[in-house]
Amino acid sequence: MTNIYVSQHPLVRHKLGILRDTNTEPKKFRQLIKEITALLAYEATLDLATRPIDIQTPLALAKCQELQEKVGLVPILRAGLGMVEGIWELMPSSEVWHIGLYRDEHTLKPVEYYNKLPVEPTVSVCLILDPMLATGGSATATAEILKRWGVRKIKFLGLIGAPEGIANMQHQHPDIDIHLACVDDHLNEKAYIIPGLGDAGDRQFGTA
Ligand code: PRP
Ligand code: URA
Repeated sequence: MTNIYVSQHPLVRHKLGILRDTNTEPKKFRQLIKEITALLAYEATLDLATRPIDIQTPLALAKCQELQEKVGLVPILRAGLGMVEGIWELMPSSEVWHIGLYRDEHTLKPVEYYNKLPVEPTVSVCLILDPMLATGGSATATAEILKRWGVRKIKFLGLIGAPEGIANMQHQHPDIDIHLACVDDHLNEKAYIIPGLGDAGDRQFGTA
């Protein structure tokens, strides 16, 4: 069964409250997404493998560790874009592979419009980035794309999840860990997360 991790960090809780606020402007909204994502990434990368490396300090050789795994950050366009920078600053050697999906407003099914993954996988771990896990259609479709690409170790990082989306991911991809800042109550008739924060893409890019 999928492991689901909901951050208990006080900073995540505090920042998420401001993020949800309908009066929070796009600039502040983007800053908060970046900060919360960095905090979630700290927790989500706890099991990344490292290997020993000797580093010369000004005084002596030190036995250190370096990241062993090649990490791919996979933001789902558009809203996942805002989550890249916070993690990228922590792991500057990560590769960023964009996947373009939008939710058809009638069928609620994801429609793929951008995917430039090369034939062979170039990373060993992928972190799917999307603030909202609503029906789970976008996240499950992205996980399928990455598995077809050949990546075996995949994690999902989101800000707010609905029980419906979590169940969908757990059913279709029980091997993928889900890291969230919060699990909300339910989806409304348009499959928006309640209470949620509204449309994460529109709020970041000022297109509401
Ligand atoms: C939003 C969000 C997710 C998706 C979640 O994207 O960013 O990608 O909906 O919903 P789901 O779990 O039901 O698939 P949207 O389709 O609105 O596109 P956008 O990011 O370009 O605004
Ligand atoms: N996409 C969003 O941006 N918000 C939701 O509540 C659901 C899907």
